[in-house]
Amino acid sequence: MTECCINPSILSADFVNLEAELQRISNADAVHVDVMDNHFVPNLTIGLPVVQRIQAVSPVPVDAHLMIADADRWAPGFADAGLASVTFHAEASIAPVKLARELRARGSKAGMALRPGTAVEPYLDMLSELDMLLIMTVEPGFGGQSFLDLTLPKIRRARAAIDGSGIGVAIQVDGGITEETIVRAAEAGANVFVAGSAVYGAADPAGAIDRLREAGRQRLRAGSAE
Ligand code: DX5
Ligand code: ZN
Repeated sequence: MTECCINPSILSADFVNLEAELQRISNADAVHVDVMDNHFVPNLTIGLPVVQRIQAVSPVPVDAHLMIADADRWAPGFADAGLASVTFHAEASIAPVKLARELRARGSKAGMALRPGTAVEPYLDMLSELDMLLIMTVEPGFGGQSFLDLTLPKIRRARAAIDGSGIGVAIQVDGGITEETIVRAAEAGANVFVAGSAVYGAADPAGAIDRLREAGRQRLRAGSAE
């Protein structure tokens, strides 16, 4: 059975109390940290110095999602910070193969993200260069948006390509993940789930993580039994 990971996004956390907010999700598989530059997306969050402090105090591995222009220039610095995983956007990279190799050489897992309107097909031949493919299930930039079902066929095609080639690439989905939508995303082939408002908007974030994991696992289990 494929592993099911729940990575809460701190975009929906209290940015003034990040250390305490990280402690509330210590049962997560990783913490998803959204870096936005007001260029690639129309929103601004945190930069490398704050991510480094998160890395220093986080009880779980850090999964950085870089929504920044000129990823080729800026992403390697995040890998140098010792993050478990660094994900750049395909649309923001001139040389994604080179960049993925640089991230791995610096000791991070290499992730590449696709906006909802970006096809996966042009990237199928480079999947072996990646540890994770992030299929955005909302337009990146803001938390609290609704899951886009139009991304499900892309998740299915990516899963088929990965299983067909026998390479171990995780498929992450990000945006609008709830106890309901996680089932559809898992059914389509995703196995790493980012959830911002569904976790930090809950009275008990750790409980919300457990419920999401159980919902995702049940579907993954059903899929592998088919
Ligand atoms: C949006 C970010 C997401 C966001 C998800 O661009 O990449 O990680 O925090 O938030 P929810 O789960 O609320 O859609
Ligand atoms: Zn994200």
